[in-house]
Amino acid sequence: MQYKFKISLFYKILISIFFVLSCNEVKKETIYKKGMVSSAHPVASKVGLDILKNGGNAFDAAIGVHFALSVVYPNAGNIGGGGFAVYRLNDGEVGSLDFREKAPLKSYRDMYISNSDDGSTVDDKKSKIGHLASGVPGSVDGMVKLYEKFGSLDWKLLLEPSIELAKNGFSLTDKQSNSLNRVMILFDSINDSEVSFVKEIKWKENDILIQKDLSKTLERIRDKKRDGFYSGLTADYIVNEMKKGDGIISYEDLNNYSSIWRKPIIGKYKEHKIISMAPPSSGGIALLQLLHGAEKLNVGNYEHNSLEYINTIAEIESRVYADRSTYLGDSDFYNVPIDDLIDNKYLDNRFSSIDPSTKTPSNQIKEGNIQFNESEETTHFSIVDEYGNAVSLTTTINGAYGSKVVVENAGFILNNEMDDFSVKPGYPNMFGLIGGEANSIEPNKRMLSSMTPTIIEKNDNLYMVLGTPGGSTIITSVFQTILNVIDFNMGMQEAVDAKKFHHQWLPDFLVVEKNTLNTNLNENLKKMGHKINERSSLGRMDCILIENGILEGGADKRGDNTALGY
Ligand code: GLY
Repeated sequence: MQYKFKISLFYKILISIFFVLSCNEVKKETIYKKGMVSSAHPVASKVGLDILKNGGNAFDAAIGVHFALSVVYPNAGNIGGGGFAVYRLNDGEVGSLDFREKAPLKSYRDMYISNSDDGSTVDDKKSKIGHLASGVPGSVDGMVKLYEKFGSLDWKLLLEPSIELAKNGFSLTDKQSNSLNRVMILFDSINDSEVSFVKEIKWKENDILIQKDLSKTLERIRDKKRDGFYSGLTADYIVNEMKKGDGIISYEDLNNYSSIWRKPIIGKYKEHKIISMAPPSSGGIALLQLLHGAEKLNVGNYEHNSLEYINTIAEIESRVYADRSTYLGDSDFYNVPIDDLIDNKYLDNRFSSIDPSTKTPSNQIKEGNIQFNESEETTHFSIVDEYGNAVSLTTTINGAYGSKVVVENAGFILNNEMDDFSVKPGYPNMFGLIGGEANSIEPNKRMLSSMTPTIIEKNDNLYMVLGTPGGSTIITSVFQTILNVIDFNMGMQEAVDAKKFHHQWLPDFLVVEKNTLNTNLNENLKKMGHKINERSSLGRMDCILIENGILEGGADKRGDNTALGY
């Protein structure tokens, strides 16, 4: 096994840091032979590429990219959140790491229900914005665990580019400046101390964002690894921040946090092996269910994005999301029937009522409870190294810029992941959906996720590494991208670019990207009973396809995503 590459490359890496700071040499081509990084931000992809070029493996690069995203992509990149990593080593061994946030010890089932007369008023603003919205962050522990098992370069060198980017700043893209302008007022109203994301005049493209406090936090993580975040000064800052806003994360929560190595969910689609994330993510189970439906109903025989194709996929998706709502939660707390949910006979039966030319109203598919609490901001990256190892990693602080709480003196944003729990069974969330028992709040429990970092093998070889942000739409975007490559012979970039759609059972809407449907198709779907909800975009995929020794990147043009290789 070659995942360790023991060599100290201090000077080479130092030089590469300076390249990171001026990212003008980013290439547009996405076909390479040796290694590749596809992420949400060109500077983060460059950090990963430099680590790979300097002999680091996919895990070294993943750690470097994760920390870089916490600086250059504060919408979702983080040290104050959590995520999941799925990996495949060059000898075929697969595994996954769960570094999802946990509910703090002082949390309780009805913590977002206020004392109204009938005791039933949900104060769900508190699960979305402010100090009480945060789960105990898992990202730093996750990166340390990945490093201890698989890292090969010096830990400090993996942090150095991010420290420099935070200390000296980086240029905002056009999309980033607009996004920061939209959220500045909220940052200002939630935080009583100075926040680097807020300034008097509006941000514009190429403005430099400097994050001094964050650079010091990253230095503590560089010097003390886990202890640089979960104890000492950073822990003090987090606990003090909690006190200011009635938050409940304690020293004990921080000290006790531990990410968990989990057996990935493994299944088949046609001749391909699918490796994806187990609970507390719903992603792996739901993806296998979707792919089973697609194979059983031969969706590849339809014209891509035709009437029958869209309706059949939407019918499969609604049934899968109905199951998700009832049965999925943190398997350490709730008995998730994993094997039953991906059992072939069960799934054959589940999809047997689908007629490509008929839409089943959602209330006839299944009644019952559902939780559907993810918001759209998250970020994913895919990495393949020259030794043949692959990492597929999705990470989040939930909503864009999480809880909007920036830890004073520490400079990082805390997540609002508590909103991924079902705040009250039966209570509609921000999407008008209701939550289930499996995902109710309990101390130390992990909230249900849709993150779907996935790796695919073909003929026992590494074939695809993929994932995306997008809340509830993550699973269906990953699903359709897989079909685009396997059933419709698209290349990786083409599969990512292709228009996507989404059905999540409830609410009973077919969510479709703008300009996907011509007038005819639109009318025919409506005649079938679909209520169409147009969105400007679905998914921001970061993927790599490996065929005949060639790596093809698929970096979503819906964002600033960039695939770089060598
Ligand atoms: N917060 C989004 C997810 O975990 O699915």
